[in-house]
Amino acid sequence: MMPIGPLMIEHRLIERMIDVMKEELFLIEKEKKVDPEFIEMAVDFIRTYADRCHHGKEEDILFRDLGVKKLTDEHRHTMEELVEEHKWGRKVTARLVEANTRYIHGNKEALSAIMDCIETLIEFYPKHIEKEDRHFFIPCMDYFTDAEKEAMLKEEWEFDKILIHEKYRNMVIAVEKILTAKKL
Ligand SMILES: [Fe+2]
Ligand SMILES: [Fe+2]
Repeated sequence: MMPIGPLMIEHRLIERMIDVMKEELFLIEKEKKVDPEFIEMAVDFIRTYADRCHHGKEEDILFRDLGVKKLTDEHRHTMEELVEEHKWGRKVTARLVEANTRYIHGNKEALSAIMDCIETLIEFYPKHIEKEDRHFFIPCMDYFTDAEKEAMLKEEWEFDKILIHEKYRNMVIAVEKILTAKKL
């Protein structure tokens, strides 16, 4: 398998989540209310899977290794754009978290901010994925030797292995902090 294989498989799961978010947005618009637990699940998916696990491998392995190659101007420009889009996606997700928190605390005006963020994300991800799948990943493989591609793929598996431990170590650190704050 090429190192873009796992990344393209991950794109398919992200698309499934985006489809669910589309349906959920339709329900929010219809019922004029939000299920905050759904938003929390969607945010966890976006932050842990789409951003940390998926964008993490793109940025820390594929883009890092492309960065030392003599890329065409077009490919370099696209790679920079993709990194900027990842950053922008993080900002929208942070806005969604903030709006959901306001909504949970009874601020009904946060509803429109939640809808706006979901709409932005469901527009953003398919475009971003299409750019990678159709215009970037495959031509970029030509910059690498077979050995380099194999090494990247191996590194991707290693990258994935640490993530579950990282997620739950961070969770323990967070609950420890909450407990300390409660005791003060
Ligand atoms: Fe990406
Ligand atoms: Fe991607």
